Amino acid sequence: MKFVVGNWKMNGTREKLREMINKTNGIKTENKVVLCVPFTMLGEKSDIIAFGAQDVSTHDHGAYTGDVSASMLAATGAKYVIVGHSERRMYHNETNDIVREKAARALESGLTPIICVGETMDEKRAGKTLDVITAMVRESVPADVHDKIIIAYEPRWAIGAGITPTAEEIATAHRVIAETLSYMGLDGTPILYGASVNATNVTDIVAIKNVDGVLVGCASLKPDEFIPIIESAR
Ligand code: PGA
Repeated sequence: MKFVVGNWKMNGTREKLREMINKTNGIKTENKVVLCVPFTMLGEKSDIIAFGAQDVSTHDHGAYTGDVSASMLAATGAKYVIVGHSERRMYHNETNDIVREKAARALESGLTPIICVGETMDEKRAGKTLDVITAMVRESVPADVHDKIIIAYEPRWAIGAGITPTAEEIATAHRVIAETLSYMGLDGTPILYGASVNATNVTDIVAIKNVDGVLVGCASLKPDEFIPIIESAR
């Protein structure tokens, strides 16, 4: 079983989501399929797909105009939430401390946080990839987590770029993340790879050691691209 998580970012419509639900209904897969959609599209049901959000507040309720809390997400039937996506870290200045708070709120409401980590091109060029992702994992995961978190390794320079790291680079990053999680007492936490995953490269990517699934952006938007990914991830 692999995780195949789609991230629609700020794209799509409820009609398009219903089309995805209809077209995926009845496909045979042992994979855990999740779609993280904009808040406004939550509340749909599917036999194949579990739903998630792409962000959550650090607070549970109150005077935080524009924010949506974990308990509100859970009330829509959502089971997952992406936290600390690089676009949130970049455009909304989310730090590891904020990401950790968000993950903690998600867990309190019974949601599984998908905590994203990944290096920039400058950090990669400076040879800091492994130090950066180790620190991100250590600082972004809440204390006293026993299970029910997912880590996504998403090299920032490869997101939406149509390029991926080499298989060796992915294997090394995932091994270091697995070791870090083990040190934190979180053996067995699923580690997903994300950034420029498509139907052509997914089979090779999920075959890499310590890759428990994929987080897919662009290629999750259309059924004829997402369904082959679901079917090829074995
Ligand atoms: P991409 O995005 O698949 O379009 O590269 C991945 C992500 O941002 O989660």
